[in-house]
Amino acid sequence: MIFTVAIDGPAAAGKGTISRAVAQQFGLRHLDTGLLYRAVGARVANGDDPVAAAEGLTPEDLARGDLRSLAAGEAASRVAVMPDVRAALVDFQRRFARAEGGAVLDGRDIGTVICPEAEVKLFVTASPEVRAQRRWLEVGGDKDEVLAQVIERDRRDAERATAPMVAAPDALLLDPTEMGISTAVEPAARAIREAFGQGRA
Ligand code: DC
Repeated sequence: MIFTVAIDGPAAAGKGTISRAVAQQFGLRHLDTGLLYRAVGARVANGDDPVAAAEGLTPEDLARGDLRSLAAGEAASRVAVMPDVRAALVDFQRRFARAEGGAVLDGRDIGTVICPEAEVKLFVTASPEVRAQRRWLEVGGDKDEVLAQVIERDRRDAERATAPMVAAPDALLLDPTEMGISTAVEPAARAIREAFGQGRA
């Protein structure tokens, strides 16, 4: 079975929680593609060339304990504007998406660039304030600064020339603000069940 669930959207919208939940529910492998950019950003912070870092990523790079920090997110967003960095990461993501057994990938450009043929596409979003609050609860620090960083990162991710963050025209839009992220898993799971039912798997 080849079956891809593409889950895109801005930082801290709840993509990760929804992705992990549906991957577990349907027995699909999961790739958090933000981690790839975070790992490249971390290597660049240590003095590596961005494209060489993207081409030479190792499992150890992805296992670093500091990739979830705000600083790592910033560094990721900066290297993510570079077309050659993005190009170096495409094949790995495409192979993961279309490997036998089915996969969930979350990121910014999965439904538009990495896997436009994905059987299910979701775009998860929420207001910057709601997302900043969530991020602040995770990482602490100055609340206003966290909000400013969320807004700046959205702008950079959405305005870059290559593979900007945008909902695919055929994506189902989910805003978990009102319902809570765990409740938002249900419409995501329904969309996947429907796609299975239509024999798209
Ligand atoms: O999802 P995240 O916060 O871990 O992503 C960190 C940064 O990586 C994000 O600001 C932009 C970049 N990114 C991207 O450009 N494309 C993806 N598919 C995933 C992440």
